[in-house]
Amino acid sequence: MIVDERLITYVNSLDMGNTEFLDELEAYAHKTYVPIIRKEMQSFIKVLLAVKQPQNILEVGTAIGFSTLLMCEYGKENCRITTIENYKKRIPIARENFKKAGREKQIQLLEGDAGEILPTLNESFDFIFMDAAKGQYIHFLPQVLRLMKPGAVLVSDNVLQDGDLIESHYLVERRNRTIYKRMREYLYELKHHPNLVTSVIPLGDGVTVSIKK
Ligand SMILES: C[S@@+](CC[C@H](N)C(=O)[O-])C[C@H]1O[C@@H](n2cnc3c(N)ncnc32)[C@H](O)[C@@H]1O
Repeated sequence: MIVDERLITYVNSLDMGNTEFLDELEAYAHKTYVPIIRKEMQSFIKVLLAVKQPQNILEVGTAIGFSTLLMCEYGKENCRITTIENYKKRIPIARENFKKAGREKQIQLLEGDAGEILPTLNESFDFIFMDAAKGQYIHFLPQVLRLMKPGAVLVSDNVLQDGDLIESHYLVERRNRTIYKRMREYLYELKHHPNLVTSVIPLGDGVTVSIKK
């Protein structure tokens, strides 16, 4: 937890929630231990969508489709979402959820490793949500940049790794050290890339918002 828990509880208590379908899907995800975006991140994404009004969205990391459906519901009417997932067990559940929500025509779910799929995409996007394996963000970045239109927004979730990022390398558990190193590289790259303007925000588990110049 990188922000005071009581503060987050208070802020989230102000939230009016989402549609009934999304609220039920969120409860199901929590019950079945599927990691999905936190309440404060949901609210932040809704605001970004309202500001940017993207028509073509790319998501890396679908899980069971919660954030995909949230973006469909609160994004521009008739926006298109391409979402990538490689965990075979979650893919049919996500497809089923897209159907149940009546959104399957708006969403294209690409099955497989984002590292392999991203280079095959040819269209460009005005909003990209990165929410997959944290250690891979740095490797996905060149392709993600290629796929962003000028003015496009890139949102990356869980970038502060529960605060581990500011700890000494030696205090971070051995198994987390590679992710820690790669995430630091990723944040450095986002902040120093000549074509990006980036803000690192301690919201949820840490989020970055980058705009392509
Ligand atoms: C945190 S979950 C996504 C949650 C989802 N965005 C939501 O909030 O509803 C991350 C997902 O990314 C998937 N993933 C991780 N690495 C991936 C990769 N290299 N290619 C495709 N999917 C990946 C995982 O299987 C997992 O389901």
